[in-house]
Amino acid sequence: MSRVDEAAAGALVRRYRAARRDPGLAVLEGFHALKHALRFGAKVQEAATSDPEGVERLAGELAPDVATGLAAVAAPVAPELLAELVPYAPRTGVVAIARRPEVDIEAALADPRPQPLVLLEDPRTMGNMGACVRVAAAAGAAGVLTTGEADPWHPDALRGAAGLHYALPVARIDALPESDRPLVAIDPEGEGLRPGELPPRAVLAFGTERHGLSEELLERADARLGIPMREGVSSLNLATSVAAVLFSRLL
Ligand SMILES: C[S@@+](CC[C@H](N)C(=O)[O-])C[C@H]1O[C@@H](n2cnc3c(N)ncnc32)[C@H](O)[C@@H]1O
Repeated sequence: MSRVDEAAAGALVRRYRAARRDPGLAVLEGFHALKHALRFGAKVQEAATSDPEGVERLAGELAPDVATGLAAVAAPVAPELLAELVPYAPRTGVVAIARRPEVDIEAALADPRPQPLVLLEDPRTMGNMGACVRVAAAAGAAGVLTTGEADPWHPDALRGAAGLHYALPVARIDALPESDRPLVAIDPEGEGLRPGELPPRAVLAFGTERHGLSEELLERADARLGIPMREGVSSLNLATSVAAVLFSRLL
C-alpha cells in the first residue's frame, strides 16, 4: 500500500470510529440496513464495500428501487480494511455512514392517525431495541420513543432494526410529555389483551427488560393490558411483546 493509500485508509477508519460516537450520525452495518435507510430517505454520507459485485447482485435481486443509489455510494475497499471500520464486519460486506434525521417529538405525539406510538421505558439491550424499531416500522406504528441512557440510534440497535429507524420517528426522551393520546401500560399483570381492543392513537408503554414498567408509569397509565400466557411463564421478551401487541390491531 502506498503512503497516500495508507493515509486514506487511516482517515477512513477514524471517520467510522468517530461516527459511532457522533449523535448526528448513524453507522449502518450490512446490506439490509443500508437498503432500508436509502429506501426511507437517509442522507448517506459515505459507504464502503469489500464485495461490490455481491452488493450489486443483492441490490438487483432484493432492492431494485435503491440499486442505483447503492452503486453510487459504495466505494470498494479490501476486506481487511472493512473489518477495521466496524466491530463485526457484516457478512454482506457493506457499511455506511448516514446523517440521523431530525425527529420532531411534539409532531409525532400530535400525529392524528390512529396508529399507536411505542414507548420503551429504559430499555437496556441494543438488539432488543432494534428489534422493537423493526417491528414498529413493519406494523406502521407512529414512532418509537425511549427513556433512559441507551441511545436507540446506537449502531447495534440500527443493525437489529435492519436500518428501519429511517421509516418512522425514533428518539430518546427524558420523560414522556403530556399529550392527548391515551397511555396504555403493557404489563404481564394487566387485564388480558383481546384483538382490536387497543384505543386509537395510544401510547403503548413497555417496561425495561429486567424489572418491567416503573410504578410511576403504571400509576400514570389510563389502562393496563397484558398478553395472555400459559401458566408458569412469567413474561415475554420485550421485542416479542411489542410485536404481539402491535399486531393485535392488524390481524
Ligand atoms: C422482559 S419483560 C419484563 C419482565 C418483568 N419481570 C415484569 O414482570 O414486567 C419486558 C416488558 O415486556 C412486556 N411484556 C412481557 N411479557 C408481557 C406480557 N405477557 N404481557 C404484557 N407485557 C409483557 C412488558 O412491557 C414488560 O415490562
